[in-house]
Amino acid sequence: MKTPVAVLISGSGSNLQAIIDQTEAGTLPINICCVISNKADAFGLERARKHGIAAVCITSKGKAREEHEREIVDELDARGVELVVLAGYMRLLGHDLLERYKGRVINIHPALLPSFPGSHGYEDAWNYGVKVSGCTVHFVDEGCDTGPIILQGVNPVEPDDTFESFRQRGLSIEHKVLPEAIRLYCAGRLRIEGRRVMIAPDPAESAGEV
Ligand code: GRF
Repeated sequence: MKTPVAVLISGSGSNLQAIIDQTEAGTLPINICCVISNKADAFGLERARKHGIAAVCITSKGKAREEHEREIVDELDARGVELVVLAGYMRLLGHDLLERYKGRVINIHPALLPSFPGSHGYEDAWNYGVKVSGCTVHFVDEGCDTGPIILQGVNPVEPDDTFESFRQRGLSIEHKVLPEAIRLYCAGRLRIEGRRVMIAPDPAESAGEV
């Protein structure tokens, strides 16, 4: 059974593209029901259309948060969505949506949380001068990048890095870690215990098949 997934974006959608590519390659057992953007000009919407995926703009402009989220929830409900993936969605989610989709919303953040939360993960880590950075996929709660961590990927800073080479390598790591976290969710291998996300062993591996 393919898990019905909605991807929420605000911009370029390179993570969305990674999810689409793996889905089309048959390595991610999901059905992308829709891509929802709060920005009409988000390039990710074009990526979705190009692959025959419903591309929906639900603008947040001029709306109270509750009203905007009600519209998103209606869209998700109508499409029978099981998992909501935030892939560069640049708004905090509120109580109503998170209550309705409790434990079913995940986000990718471009730094090793809890360091550098917020909307400038790459810039903040680079400007701080870290030697190691990376990305974090976590369940979403009402805080800013505070939910329980599912997976992290490591991006060591190379001596000859520029900000751009650092960011590009980081993005390519994101493109592996986010689909992997979705795969684990879909396989029912994630369990939240307080702040910790327990990952059950791969049944195929324990049976000695891989
Ligand atoms: C990524 O760096 C992601 O971690 C962050 O926003 C960026 C979105 O990039 N939340 P893209 O739209 O997937 O290219």
